[in-house]
Amino acid sequence: MKVSIIGTGYVGITTGACLAYLGHEVTCIDSDERKIALLRAGKTPIYEPFLTELLADAQRNLRYCTKYAGAIQDADVIFIAVGTPPLADGSPDLRYLSQAARGIGEHYAGDFVVVVNKSTVPIGSGNWVGSLVRESYEQHHGHKANGHFSVASNPEFLREGTALSDSLYPDRVVIGSDDERSLETLYSLYRPILDQTFAPPPYLPRPEEVGAVPLISTDLASAELIKYAANAFLALKISYINEIGQLAEKVGADIIQVAKGIGLDARIGTRFLQAGIGWGGSCFGKDTAALVSTATEYNLSMPIVAAAREINRRQRDRVVEKLLGELKILKGRSIGLLGLAFKPNTDDLREAPAIDIARKLIDRGCKVKVHDPVAMERFQQEYGDMGAVCCTTPEEVADDVDALVLVTEWQQYRELDWEALAAKMRSRIVLDGRNALDRARLTRFGFRYVGVAG
Ligand code: UGA
Repeated sequence: MKVSIIGTGYVGITTGACLAYLGHEVTCIDSDERKIALLRAGKTPIYEPFLTELLADAQRNLRYCTKYAGAIQDADVIFIAVGTPPLADGSPDLRYLSQAARGIGEHYAGDFVVVVNKSTVPIGSGNWVGSLVRESYEQHHGHKANGHFSVASNPEFLREGTALSDSLYPDRVVIGSDDERSLETLYSLYRPILDQTFAPPPYLPRPEEVGAVPLISTDLASAELIKYAANAFLALKISYINEIGQLAEKVGADIIQVAKGIGLDARIGTRFLQAGIGWGGSCFGKDTAALVSTATEYNLSMPIVAAAREINRRQRDRVVEKLLGELKILKGRSIGLLGLAFKPNTDDLREAPAIDIARKLIDRGCKVKVHDPVAMERFQQEYGDMGAVCCTTPEEVADDVDALVLVTEWQQYRELDWEALAAKMRSRIVLDGRNALDRARLTRFGFRYVGVAG
């Protein structure tokens, strides 16, 4: 099938790479010439494991363009995967979504196309996008758009860092549409994934437990709400374990064992119960805020979601409070942060706890030294003026610091020579913000080990 994808962010480029790998003819469109130039040169604008490899393997089915003209006119499916970043008041900026919808109306020239909202859009956006495409189509073509297009919602559930595997081996595919033809088109598009009939790339083997993938086909509003409800549930699962973690700390319980003990109940599940500094990233914060705000429009409150947000906010303060508790005076102290990205295996710094924590410590008069295995360049570009000292190795971070904070649980930090790090530090305090380090081992090396929850 002919597929056009507008936007080459995490969602757009991952979708493009996977669909092209499955054999569809994919055109990726982005107005950012720098991104398109990188992609044409076989490079990627983001750090995502195996993305370069998959794009290279699917190369013969991929085209990259900066303009709609010549890129969408005869597509069978057009995905809108543009950013919807939060505005100052927390509501999503729908400028790019509206530009994409109008661009489709202007340039589409075939018989029938399914326009798919893949970006996380406010509930009700499907209808809105439909009206924008129709208006623009009729304005530029001089005749009614009836029957030429239909809008569907196909929310994305990929996680950064495991985006490709999440897309090729999803837990489910959700398609929201009020139109039978759209459902059939998208069913054909996703068939190799639904039936798992494709040959896996050698670097992304199919997990043993993956069988046929369930398809949830529903109306537009339900598909849109599924996305928000899923992200909010995951966010509150994390906040729940962090709340229990605070109590665990007081009563002397081990939160890792508690999480395991409750998670093995199949009704609860072990995943997303890792207590620590809390969630960051571009999704949970934005989506939980949007859910609360949509509910307000309908005179509803969402106290559970609101509480999950508040607990998450507090987790970051607790890092500073814990350091204060250990060091008594923060002014003039030197603190090392290991990890800047909001989670391992990505260079994404959006809403990253490390940024907030670094700011809070600098405001309190600390010298902050930072390191990340892949996000240093991005940090220097986006936060270079913050006043943090960028280090090229974890050893350099440890040199003469009063405490080390593990902010992002990169595998390489778990495997560090912690004994050697201890020897470099002014005082041997380690605050394990992800409860990811081996407490007993670190204690043996003379560390005062402090967990963030439990
Ligand atoms: C999240 C969802 O997991 C995806 O399903 C969804 O598609 C995506 O948002 C989106 O809406 O685009 P992502 O933000 O990439 O994915 O990453 P997650 O793996 O969900 O992690 C989010 C944050 O929660 C990270 O900061 C992570 O460190 C934190 N986390 C995660 C915990 O603190 N504890 C956990 O147990 C799990």
